[in-house]
Amino acid sequence: MKVDRVKNRFKGLFVIASVILLLTGEIFALDITSTKHNLSVTGPGPIKALPGAEPSRRICVYCHTPHRANPDTPLWNHTLSPRKTYILPESPTQLSKPSNPPDGDSRLCLSCHDGMVAIGSVVHMRGGPTTISMQRVGPRQEMVPTTERGLTNLAGDLSGTHLISIAYNDDLKVDKDKQCQTGIVYFGLRYPSEIPPPVRLRPTDNTYNGKPGYKGLGVQCSSCHEPHDNGYGKFLLVDYFNNPEDLCLSCHTYNCSQQ
Ligand code: HEC
Ligand code: HEC
Ligand code: HEC
Ligand code: HEC
Repeated sequence: MKVDRVKNRFKGLFVIASVILLLTGEIFALDITSTKHNLSVTGPGPIKALPGAEPSRRICVYCHTPHRANPDTPLWNHTLSPRKTYILPESPTQLSKPSNPPDGDSRLCLSCHDGMVAIGSVVHMRGGPTTISMQRVGPRQEMVPTTERGLTNLAGDLSGTHLISIAYNDDLKVDKDKQCQTGIVYFGLRYPSEIPPPVRLRPTDNTYNGKPGYKGLGVQCSSCHEPHDNGYGKFLLVDYFNNPEDLCLSCHTYNCSQQ
């Protein structure tokens, strides 16, 4: 009897969870609709499908496909960049050696944001690779460098971008704290297991000190950005423009403090 009641309660919870999932799935889709990552003809940004281009109204297709995707997660459809090396950030106190070219999610972002590949170039649409015709793009249909809308085409130069495709493990935290305590740097690092959501570590094959990142994870573009939601501007995961420390102090510790 009692067991049955517990079972029913679980069933109830399951139904509620499913409904929430469905609803948030809906909101999720709506969120991207109002962002510059809606590249369909209905998108609010300058770069979008030409009216009449096939399929002018689909949103997810530029990045995902349910079939025959690139072997990269998650069901990736955008043609990956052929660029072999990028200019990476280098500082005398930097401990990490990032992967070059970047791996994981960062490679997915760079498939549009390094300006090598046509924005509409997809691996699979109606049976094969296609390039969907876009407006406000360069001669190769690529993202062009623009000063009027911010620097979205990073080209091959990531030296002004935060380190990405680096493994983040306890050794890195300990070594950074040593630098911090000897006064070489001002900020320490948190333990990777203590990074508060929504800031997140993402998969990378990179290593630090010969060891993989904590659970195979490290810093990628998607540690700070959420490509489906622009609620805080610049597709950031937290309200950086009002509280920048919410982002940076998710991983770094102020004044070498251990918290
Ligand atoms: C401009 C590119 C882009 C578009 C358009 C896009 N996505 Fe994504 N999506 C990504 C990237 C990059 C990732 C991997 C990084 C991440 O999870 O944030 C991803 C990951 C995902 C994931 C896996 C999430 C996870 O946390 O592992 C799902 C599910 C998803 N997208 C669904 C969608 C749906 C549904 C649409 C259309 C409404 C869509 N995406 C449109 C770029 C895009
Ligand atoms: C399919 C191509 C594509 C992919 C993949 C893609 N983006 Fe974009 N992104 C765009 C376009 C197009 C714009 C608008 C550029 C413009 O306005 O000139 C944009 C704009 C942005 C902007 C600026 C938003 C603003 O409000 O000014 C950020 C930040 C951004 N993307 C981050 C990312 C990150 C991080 C990823 C990977 C997680 C990613 N993008 C993946 C096409 C892409
Ligand atoms: C440590 C966090 C972090 C990482 C990692 C990161 N970004 Fe950003 N990104 C930011 C912040 C914060 C801003 C907003 C900066 C500003 O406008 O002052 C930004 C801005 C941008 C912009 C808009 C630039 C403009 O001038 O409008 C683009 C595009 C972008 N990021 C793409 C990427 C891509 C692609 C990657 C990976 C190669 C990446 N970011 C990695 C935090 C990050
Ligand atoms: C997801 C975790 C994470 C976030 C969020 C993050 N960082 Fe970092 N940051 C790291 C890691 C890990 C390193 C690598 C340290 C090293 O290799 O010495 C690093 C390195 C740096 C460095 C270079 C340190 C050096 O000694 O060369 C600077 C500067 C920096 N971050 C600033 C920022 C700022 C500013 C923000 C907020 C916009 C930020 N970080 C957000 C994890 C993060």
